[in-house]
Amino acid sequence: MRNIVLVGFMGTGKSVVGRALARRLKRPFVDLDRLIEKGAGRSVAKIFADSGEAGFRELEQEVVRAVAPKLDQVIAAGGGVLLNEENVRLLKASGILVCLTARPEVILKRTLKMLPSRPLLNGPNPLEKLEELLTLRAPSYAQAHVTIDTSDRSVEEVAEEVVKAIEVREECR
Ligand code: S3P
Repeated sequence: MRNIVLVGFMGTGKSVVGRALARRLKRPFVDLDRLIEKGAGRSVAKIFADSGEAGFRELEQEVVRAVAPKLDQVIAAGGGVLLNEENVRLLKASGILVCLTARPEVILKRTLKMLPSRPLLNGPNPLEKLEELLTLRAPSYAQAHVTIDTSDRSVEEVAEEVVKAIEVREECR
């Protein structure tokens, strides 16, 4: 079976939904950020601090190259994974790209408690930064096959939406 790849901005629920989806579909769950941390022996925040965003993106690309060829997985990708053309190509070829979205104020509320582990938002004005990044990244996220707004839905409801969206796509093939 093709992979289900969850993409989208930080705080849209990729990891929690991915875990629920994997449980439900009895598939392995792969969180790319956790794989990067495991390989580097450092947290994402430490990688950004030591090697900058460029250093993090290199590790992210290596992990995408390693994971994309395998099948049957539910993959949660980091929010910036689609900024790299090769990542887009590999992940699209490996399965269905599902972009999770949420309103900026919902993202802010969800990410505030985890700002130390989200170096890109961890500055003086996180709302301004996240709105700027959302605008910049809109074309990248638009490349997903399916988009689901998670703002007013529970984790299980979003997982259900993903399953439905995949079934509809399979029927249309
Ligand atoms: C990033 C999102 C983070 C992590 C890194 C960069 C981004 O992952 O990969 O901090 O560029 O949006 P989550 O989307 O899982 O928070």
